Amino acid sequence: MSTENIVAEGLKGVVIGKSEICFIDGKRGKLIYRGYDIHDLVNHSNFEEVVYLLWYGKLPTKKNFDDLYKSLVTNRALSKEAISLLKSFPKKATPMEVLRTAISTLSLTDHSADDTSFEANVKKGINLTAKTATIIAAFDRMRNGKEPIEPSPNLNHAANFLYMLTGKVPDEMISRFFDICLILHADHELNASTFAARVTSSTLSDLYSAITSAVGTLKGPLHGGANIEVMKMLIDMGTVDKTKDYVRTRLAERKRIMGFGHRVYKTEDPRATHLRRMSKEMGEKTGLTKWYEMSRVIEDLMLNEKGMYPNVDFYSASAYYTMGIPIDLYTPIFALSRVSGWIAHVLEQYSNNTLIRPIAEYVGPNDLTYVPIDKR
Ligand code: ACO
Repeated sequence: MSTENIVAEGLKGVVIGKSEICFIDGKRGKLIYRGYDIHDLVNHSNFEEVVYLLWYGKLPTKKNFDDLYKSLVTNRALSKEAISLLKSFPKKATPMEVLRTAISTLSLTDHSADDTSFEANVKKGINLTAKTATIIAAFDRMRNGKEPIEPSPNLNHAANFLYMLTGKVPDEMISRFFDICLILHADHELNASTFAARVTSSTLSDLYSAITSAVGTLKGPLHGGANIEVMKMLIDMGTVDKTKDYVRTRLAERKRIMGFGHRVYKTEDPRATHLRRMSKEMGEKTGLTKWYEMSRVIEDLMLNEKGMYPNVDFYSASAYYTMGIPIDLYTPIFALSRVSGWIAHVLEQYSNNTLIRPIAEYVGPNDLTYVPIDKR
């Protein structure tokens, strides 16, 4: 390799192209979708509107919104074949494995799978966004020996997911909190899973393939899988009084505290601000305040002793736990929102494509002499 190339392990700090979708100011803790501050979207918008914003680059008119909303509702139901397939999966498979596999199979019945035009991809995007929620809820019921619940046309994406999961229409507070969780997770610039989706689509492979790559990438504990690890850690600690020793011991062993640190944010992650509040309020609503209290102690300790801030995965763990959501669904829930951002990025990638193919610095051996197998 020529010496003028710069090696950037993990692509740290490398700008790989231009994007109009999402801006993160890691120093000031700002997150912007298509020019709109995340705090404004949390305060005034909803998931369906954010999906429109991410895909089309502007806020919808009432008609635009209604059309997209209706399309999402009408695409929620899974075919009989898809339900049978989900039923055939091992009940012990993790929901992320199931989601990755099920999403991949959606292309088998879509004859436009390889059409990479904007219109065809938006249709596929609606199919993927609507059905991701249904797949997650249906598999959770099936693995617990229950029948899946038909989606409700009367509920928005957030409330319908919780309804399909539990069979109960969630109250207004939980519906809104979950809707906010979906807004917060919808996009995040070139995070690992979005990058994976862009790499796949940059080969002009299809949207289903790109989203399958992204789901597989989100699964890792250094990325979306961290929220599951956070809750396991809180349960392992058990009580508020054990929290500090537990964290200090882990740090002394040079182990990571999941839910802390971020490649881009070097201050408070603006998503954590809302998730902290929801964790607190859900704790108060359910009487399960200890998870929030433990989280606060960890947050203070990590800031004082490591200078590290919680990321999106830290408070989402205790917020989801107090909503009664099974722990291994936390990462699939991340995917049920982030699928919208992945799709926005794939649309942008196709609109101005360059194959993504970096190079490596070769540090292996050279000039070896081949030895036949019977002489080794
Ligand atoms: N706990 C303890 N130490 C940490 C943590 C953590 N959570 N995160 C980073 N560090 C330390 C590393 O050990 C390293 O220390 P060293 O230089 O002494 O070896 C230093 O901080 C830099 O770490 P890197 O991994 O090089 O930083 P990077 O920017 O690559 O990491 C990452 C970002 C992967 C998110 C990291 O902070 C991490 O592993 N966090 C825990 C997992 C997590 O919460 N992931 C979710 C991120 S948000 C998302 O993807 C949705």
